[in-house]
Amino acid sequence: MISENEYAILTNHITKKFKDFTAVNDLNLKVKRGEIYGLLGPNGAGKTTMIKMMASIINPTSGDARVLGEKIPDGKISSKIGYMPQETGVYLGLTVDQNLKFYGRIFNLGKDEMEKREDELLKFVDLADWKYEMAENLSGGMKHRVSLACTLIHQPELLFLDEPTVGVDPELRVSFWNYFNQLRERGVTILITTHYMDEARHCDRIGFMQRGHLIAEDAPLNLLEESGKDSLEDAFMEFSKRDEAHEEVGS
Ligand SMILES: Nc1ncnc2c1ncn2[C@@H]1O[C@H](COP(=O)(O)OP(=O)(O)O)[C@@H](O)[C@H]1O
Ligand SMILES: [Mg+2]
Repeated sequence: MISENEYAILTNHITKKFKDFTAVNDLNLKVKRGEIYGLLGPNGAGKTTMIKMMASIINPTSGDARVLGEKIPDGKISSKIGYMPQETGVYLGLTVDQNLKFYGRIFNLGKDEMEKREDELLKFVDLADWKYEMAENLSGGMKHRVSLACTLIHQPELLFLDEPTVGVDPELRVSFWNYFNQLRERGVTILITTHYMDEARHCDRIGFMQRGHLIAEDAPLNLLEESGKDSLEDAFMEFSKRDEAHEEVGS
């Protein structure tokens, strides 16, 4: 038995409605501390809505959840979480340095700590030579790396990464996954969304999401085995078919 404390995220029938449209439907999600959990699914599946609730940005309509042991929404844990939004969080009219310092100030980092963190992170995302460049002059992939560095400035324990690799070229996607693995080795928990099925094999566990609920959840290899398919793309289709058949029987 895993005790409640071993979960970074634990949701209980969480639901989000926008008027009469249900974006997240009665979802029970358990993410263990120190794991990389991937939420996968097509556009509109409810992934971003789920992440925004977990990050206390929007409130659930019903159900409840604990994040890092605290009932959400909760401002107390905001210094322990990092959120990289799907749309870039980078201010284009600021330099890379100014962007990082802006985020650092939000979390009250002292001057010395700020400089130290900034140097570490710029090395980490391979942008040390671009520190004083205006963000608007960077390529899309570089802006993503700045956004990731900003998300990490206060050394969060739990990271929410919403499609961090969209529009990022394949080579850079590999280096992003290297960063994520390094973070996990330091004990950071990561909830990541993607619709690139191929890169999801890097996750410890995956939740396939469709129409606001989970249709399957397991380690990538187990999902392949259980579906009898040899790609996660095909496995998703298979679970989707089973889910629809199940709903027809149920209705
Ligand atoms: N603020 C909102 N108002 C109304 N509908 C919304 C809002 N945010 C999301 N939705 C709808 O909820 C569904 C799920 O959206 P989202 O969580 O962004 O999915 P995903 O991230 O998986 O693409 C979509 O159909 C979207 O149009
Ligand atoms: Mg989204």
